[in-house]
Amino acid sequence: KSLKIGMIPADGIGREVLPGAKAAIQALGSSIPTTEFIDLQAGFECFQKTGTALPDETVEVLKNECDCALFGAVSSPSRKVFGYSSPIVALRKKMDLYANIRPVSSVAPIPNEQPTIDLVVVRENTECLGFSISKKKHRLLGKGAPKARATRLITEYASRRIGEMAFKIALTRPRKHVTIIHKSNVLSVTDGLFRETVRGVPTLPGMNGKYDGVTVAEQLVDSAVYRLFREPHIYDVMVAPNLYGDIISDAAAALVGSLGLVPSVNAGDSFVMGEPVHGSAPDIAGKDIANPLAAIRSAALMLRQLGYRNGAARIESAVDDVIREGRYLTPDLGGKSSTSEVVSQVVKRI
Ligand code: NAI
Ligand code: MG
Repeated sequence: KSLKIGMIPADGIGREVLPGAKAAIQALGSSIPTTEFIDLQAGFECFQKTGTALPDETVEVLKNECDCALFGAVSSPSRKVFGYSSPIVALRKKMDLYANIRPVSSVAPIPNEQPTIDLVVVRENTECLGFSISKKKHRLLGKGAPKARATRLITEYASRRIGEMAFKIALTRPRKHVTIIHKSNVLSVTDGLFRETVRGVPTLPGMNGKYDGVTVAEQLVDSAVYRLFREPHIYDVMVAPNLYGDIISDAAAALVGSLGLVPSVNAGDSFVMGEPVHGSAPDIAGKDIANPLAAIRSAALMLRQLGYRNGAARIESAVDDVIREGRYLTPDLGGKSSTSEVVSQVVKRI
């Protein structure tokens, strides 16, 4: 049976880094099943051309034909564009990819990199951001100043399954330590539910002491970012609601030298989609200088999640070797190499 991989480059540097991920998988040759890549549409450019950022066909092909997928990055505008909503947010929901697992680890030596970073952000992926803006225009009495309102949803159901995912991941790591990130001193209803639910995971019926070896701590999100920079070694698995998880993982990326190094997988119970943590980087798009390593590592994470551990490890060690050697790095890491040059160096080492 072949392995069918949906490829969704979307916008900006997503289109430049995803071919690197493909090349790395292809370089594995016969050590994984025959791969078939299926190109799929999504993104802001797709919205401008077709009126939808996530065509039904893309979701149907993913659901019915693909074993897994790789996503590049989408250029979501910062202003409200009528009819547009982020396809990556929608994809995570439609495919029920409830966990965004973002390992951040360092391979010395990179300029400015702290050598001991080894943590994983486990970001809830289906709620928290699901806001609806009231159709009625709210106006301050007599003053006419506009108001906006958004609703934040946190459920016990989603908090429990992301909590379980975090504990499961902790069990596989040497330090077996979970830190719950929240802000329940202020958002006591929503984040309070998240915090209590995640804390309660080890004592749920049926757990039978499964997580006895895992230690649990918690940290308010603002001071968590502070401590991440001051003493990153205190963290192992950081589990967080959607928005905090997004912010913390970009902050953690700074500690290892570049956003262009940090991969992720969006995981559900029956599907997995690899995706670099970075966005479409319009400031460097079109120049062949985007760092492809985050996308390549995302391909490895996806393969590992599917059970192809050797293939994943071969890609990961090729990436680590390229970083360690330091001869072929893109400008974000202080190098002079192009995207394609870095890809061919990784492929050579695989
Ligand atoms: P960004 O992650 O695209 O870029 C932030 C900074 O990091 C930029 O200076 C960029 O040049 C640099 N950078 C990012 N990836 C890099 C790589 N592979 N190699 C070298 N440098 C890299 O975040 P930004 O600028 O805030 O957002 C740009 C667009 O991306 C927005 O429209 C945003 O909505 C979208 N975005 C999409 C995401 C997704 O598709 N999952 C995630 C984050 C942002
Ligand atoms: Mg982000």
